[in-house]
Amino acid sequence: MAPSRGKAPPGEVADGLSPAFLELLRAERLAELMVLDVGTGGGRLALALAPQCRGVVGVDRDARLIDEARKKAAAAGVTNARFVVGDVEVEEYAPFKPDMVVAYLCISDAIAERAGRVLKPGQVFAFVAFHSDQWKETGRASRFAYGEVGVKRLLKRTGFTVEHLAVERAVQQFETVEQGLAAAVALQEKWKADGRWFRYVKFLEEGGRTLTQAHLVVKARKT
Ligand SMILES: C[S@@+](CC[C@H](N)C(=O)[O-])C[C@H]1O[C@@H](n2cnc3c(N)ncnc32)[C@H](O)[C@@H]1O
Repeated sequence: MAPSRGKAPPGEVADGLSPAFLELLRAERLAELMVLDVGTGGGRLALALAPQCRGVVGVDRDARLIDEARKKAAAAGVTNARFVVGDVEVEEYAPFKPDMVVAYLCISDAIAERAGRVLKPGQVFAFVAFHSDQWKETGRASRFAYGEVGVKRLLKRTGFTVEHLAVERAVQQFETVEQGLAAAVALQEKWKADGRWFRYVKFLEEGGRTLTQAHLVVKARKT
């Protein structure tokens, strides 16, 4: 009997992951698939998918996060997920033998090129990427950010047909500078290090009262 399409386990907490994205993945026959999660971080996507998949491999270059993912898998009794330290923009993906490649907020041309080389016709490459409007108030896009046109061009070049492309956007509105600063306080250290904090403060001081989060949700199939 063919394995059924993946279903969300009852009571599962999606750990901040886009429900629409998880739905797109679960429409595939996950029980038959070895899924590669590139830039897995602490493994939240890999661990959300593992119960429905044949297997999951999460790769990240941050050894501390890989260690965290391994500990979470052990604590949850997940036995079909493994976590590997590696650079997903340098290494090829064939050794992981993936049937599907996924990524959550870790997408670059190099990653799409590697997914395009490893996947066979009909197999899925799906990801959530920063949209180029993400935190536009800081005046600098993430190096992982794409617009709709750019991501379509990238996927065409790397051998994929886009099946789903949507923008998930949330714009916080503030009445005062202080509210705007408070909304970004958790990012303050990171943004100070890369220069975005001072541009955001300037934006607020000049009357700006928003902070934009925008993600692209994409599912593409190897042509
Ligand atoms: C924004 S975080 C997202 C983490 C995870 N996917 C999640 O949603 O929780 C981006 C991750 O990509 C990883 N990363 C960035 N560039 C990478 C590379 N070239 N090779 C491996 N990991 C990379 C970072 O270490 C970080 O854990």
